[in-house]
Amino acid sequence: MITRRTFVGRTAALVTAAGAKLAVWERALPARKDSVPGANAETGNERSLLLGVDYYPDQTPEKLWEEDARMIAEAGLTNVRVAEFAWGLMEPSEGKFDFAWLKRSVEILHKHGIAVILGTPSAAPPPWLSSKYPEILLVNKDGVTVQPGGRRFTCPTNKTYRKLSLNIATEMAKAFANTAGVMGWQIDNEFTLQPHARCYCKFCREGFQDWVKAKYGTLDSVNEKWGTVFWSQTYTDWRHIPVPLPSNGDPNPGLVLDYDRYQSHACASFAEEQLAMLRNECPKHFVTTNQVGAPLDTLNLREMYRDMDFVSSDNYPGFAQVFLPALASPEVMASMIALGHDSMRCVKGGKPFLIMEEQAGKAGQSFFAPQPHPGQLRLWVFQAVAHGAMGVNYFRWDSARFGAEEYWFGMLNHDRSKSIGFDEMVRTVKEVKSLGREGLESSYVAEIAISFDHDSSWALSVQPGNSKLTYMAQLMAWYGSVASANSGTDVIHLDEDLRKYKAVFAPVQYVVSEKQAENIRKYVREGGTFVAGFRLGVKNESSQIVNAPLPGLLRDVMGVTVRDPVPVYTEKVGVKFGSQLAGAEAQCALWADLLKPESATALATYTGAYESDAAITINTFGKGKAVYVGADLDPVSLARVLRTVLAMSGSNSAIQTPRGVEVTRRRAREKEWVFVLNHTPEEQQVSLAGKFSAVVGNGPNNGALRLRAYDLAVLQRV
Ligand code: GAL
Ligand code: ZN
Repeated sequence: MITRRTFVGRTAALVTAAGAKLAVWERALPARKDSVPGANAETGNERSLLLGVDYYPDQTPEKLWEEDARMIAEAGLTNVRVAEFAWGLMEPSEGKFDFAWLKRSVEILHKHGIAVILGTPSAAPPPWLSSKYPEILLVNKDGVTVQPGGRRFTCPTNKTYRKLSLNIATEMAKAFANTAGVMGWQIDNEFTLQPHARCYCKFCREGFQDWVKAKYGTLDSVNEKWGTVFWSQTYTDWRHIPVPLPSNGDPNPGLVLDYDRYQSHACASFAEEQLAMLRNECPKHFVTTNQVGAPLDTLNLREMYRDMDFVSSDNYPGFAQVFLPALASPEVMASMIALGHDSMRCVKGGKPFLIMEEQAGKAGQSFFAPQPHPGQLRLWVFQAVAHGAMGVNYFRWDSARFGAEEYWFGMLNHDRSKSIGFDEMVRTVKEVKSLGREGLESSYVAEIAISFDHDSSWALSVQPGNSKLTYMAQLMAWYGSVASANSGTDVIHLDEDLRKYKAVFAPVQYVVSEKQAENIRKYVREGGTFVAGFRLGVKNESSQIVNAPLPGLLRDVMGVTVRDPVPVYTEKVGVKFGSQLAGAEAQCALWADLLKPESATALATYTGAYESDAAITINTFGKGKAVYVGADLDPVSLARVLRTVLAMSGSNSAIQTPRGVEVTRRRAREKEWVFVLNHTPEEQQVSLAGKFSAVVGNGPNNGALRLRAYDLAVLQRV
């Protein structure tokens, strides 16, 4: 079997042999007829751009395939993704395979210069499979078996499902390993898709027991880490360990946190089986998998993508309008999408990522979001690029006239006429191409970072303290506050290298490991600014409460003790800001950690019943600063506080923008691209110090850049 290392070695050898600096999969791409301005035809620069569309030949009469391919090419698109839900057509009955139709489609696409990403189809097993092997069905958190009829109704650990999934993927890989035009793979589809993000079936239970055994070694150790003496839960046999299905009374917090970790690992290892096979069968191809691009805490994606070539995500800003109308003000919506992009980019340390699916029109299943306003389709693509995307695939080419997603509009309407946004998408593709390989593969510039910690999110979800408190809402509020400074924000884990950031923000870092505490301590000691929210360091990695005054392992760094953690419901708890933070008095929303400064000083205090307690503190620790925001502030106060602290940290390259206007930077060697994006329905103006020329859109005039509603510009310093 080929290991990752031998694959990398082999890839490098091939690249050297060809004397080109292109990745192996890039050299598999067909040459483009229309060359990109500035691209070097000799080195094939233009070939590496991944600007495509998700295409469904399986749902389209064959007589239309030629026309589709011609039109896709005419639209300037260079690739498609196909077949990720076509298991039923590729294996119509168990062990009988038919790839002939897909080969014909790939051939036609290739003839028109369109490269192909193939999806392995495990996310939607056909009826013969679920009927013959009903044990593959997922059991949800209420213990109910999820029925076939939709998709992702499967258990990630079930051996039969895994075997059959790997089997169809292997047959596919063998059939297409050397097919001209095929350049890469998408494994499965959206492992992060909710609502059934966890399986609780008997196979998962056994798998969990084995995983726990491998992790802890002895039952004594499990019993101690989970504190099973409570409610007489001491385990005397590995097979007695349950999964957290409803019982009378809440489950053991340590067990639940481990179960989340186990289920996350189960999905990663499911993908890993297909990845290892694809490395073996298709060494010339790239391998990735796509996730829901909106920030979700379902899985720890770092494990899933560890050995894949790059991260892919699916971007549907329209969802925010449908599901979170209260949040859908232009700036909040823009910041939510940005958080999705920033978190996906950082899954592989900032490496450029691919948008595998990008909203192309009205979006939704039973009901749908409105048609994006003129300019928004272009804006959202450029926003993804502004945050580090190297390519974009629209979802989808045509609009299905049958099936659950009939109302998910593609680039073509139901009658195959061009959609209302078609021309805008074509223009966008052309403009994105003009950034070239250099621009699209440049690095995102981030001066600050925010922690997105699954352990904290999972642990908090079983014991939020205040029933309304959620990790994700806090993360979004904090991200929105700091990202609006336009300093560039990475979304990290606290055990990663923090030294490159001027400031690191950690909302509700409820679980803190010793390793993380040490990392933070070192970072602050050496001059960093660490800003934490309430409920800091309450729990250790086993989800047991720390055996020390809060904030536990970080008490020395923060220079405070939490005198009392207080959930806020109907009681009025006010916050009064000192001179450094200024601003009108605020009200605590959901939480108040009453702070007693030790070496720290107070930046804000509570009013009323808790007036003798600090609400926000700052501590000098070594060469750095540590700020504790003990109060859950309203969005305006939170933004003011975090932005003030950010300014104190010495982050000064930020460009001031009106609300809803975003600025990001990407860099390649001495070149820098500045993206200015107007997410609002009004014209906006941004002042820019220095001289710029426009690569996309209009440039500034006398230092002032005017952007019409939903307009954008990509600038370079001159
Ligand atoms: C994504 C999914 C696609 C399609 C699309 C529109 O979440 O990957 O298969 O369902 O949304 O609903
Ligand atoms: Zn299961």
